[in-house]
Amino acid sequence: MSESIDELLLKSNHKKEELIRLLSVEPGPETEKVLQAGLRVKAEHPGRIVYLRGLIELSNRCARNCYYCGIRAANPMVERYTLSDEEVYQAADFAWKEGFGSLVIQAGELKNKTFTHHIARLLKGIHQRTHNELTITLSLGEQSAETYRLWREAGAERYLLRIETTNRQLFEHIHPHNKAHNFDARMHALTLLRQEGYQVGTGVMIGLPGQTLADLADDLLFFKTQDIDMVGMGPYIEHPDIPLSAEDALLWPSQERFRIGLLMIALLRLNMPWINIAASTALETLDPLGRQKGILAGANVVMPNLTPVPNRKKYLLYDNKPNLDKDPALSTTSLNQVIQEIGETISYHIAGSSMHYLRRTGQIEG
Ligand code: 5AD
Repeated sequence: MSESIDELLLKSNHKKEELIRLLSVEPGPETEKVLQAGLRVKAEHPGRIVYLRGLIELSNRCARNCYYCGIRAANPMVERYTLSDEEVYQAADFAWKEGFGSLVIQAGELKNKTFTHHIARLLKGIHQRTHNELTITLSLGEQSAETYRLWREAGAERYLLRIETTNRQLFEHIHPHNKAHNFDARMHALTLLRQEGYQVGTGVMIGLPGQTLADLADDLLFFKTQDIDMVGMGPYIEHPDIPLSAEDALLWPSQERFRIGLLMIALLRLNMPWINIAASTALETLDPLGRQKGILAGANVVMPNLTPVPNRKKYLLYDNKPNLDKDPALSTTSLNQVIQEIGETISYHIAGSSMHYLRRTGQIEG
């Protein structure tokens, strides 16, 4: 391959080998070049704008047993909770008053009628009290087409379901081997979401034990071939009470997982200029400036945590999760300041839909 890094960074349709090469850059000036290219494309396409989504961690009850996740069903150390409707509404009211434009409701994965109807009720309740001015994203795992449809009809417009890794073997390695954890089912759920008319978001963990740069290049290509509208991805982070902790010795050092996380954002921005990309909480976990650094690599979405403080400590997907007492992003002044300092502007009072979605559904031209 003869092209220089600079030449490769002018492209927007990288092949796998090119992505591997760009993910293999050394820390320091070469890494900075890639990150700057991400920012350049962000500035040209979505613009130097940041959208906010208030994150509500509705419940840590979960039926699944993913080996990497702190709130897996079999972790006895977790005190389980579900927020009351009133707590959810208070969080929604806060987001609405602050002009966030959008909410994300996330929880462990439960599949039963009570849960399905609980979510539908909350969706309707939130829309009613906020005059339909909040766009709602759900992140509630794999569900049936009927459930996705019911929630869509109750007012959810976007859905996040991470594929976690597109390497089937690695996926099987980090999940129990049973029907409830199935790679094809996860893929299928993404297709269903698309069919039900959602803006579809997915993502992966970066730096899983045994994961390679070639795997991560495949992940980026997957987002493109699936024509995904939004991506949330972040470094894999240790947790003492999960089965995967037995493999901690295999992990890349945390600053490498962080750096490659930023490279992934930048390369995704180059290849999918119009999608929404979140600066994930996991980035912020590994670096107090992770949010800002994610934005400066090409991310355009920040998700301040609106979960009531006592519950936040019980929603520990991984170790050292930040902002357990207070999310500084909830102080409008401090958030505005931080974002302004890096040359960006928060867009208040707008839904902040994925431009990629608006274009593919013919709602805007281009
Ligand atoms: N490190 C990083 N991300 C994690 N998630 C779960 N456990 C971890 C971990 N240990 C992510 C998964 C999941 C999302 C809700 O949180 O990608 O889809």
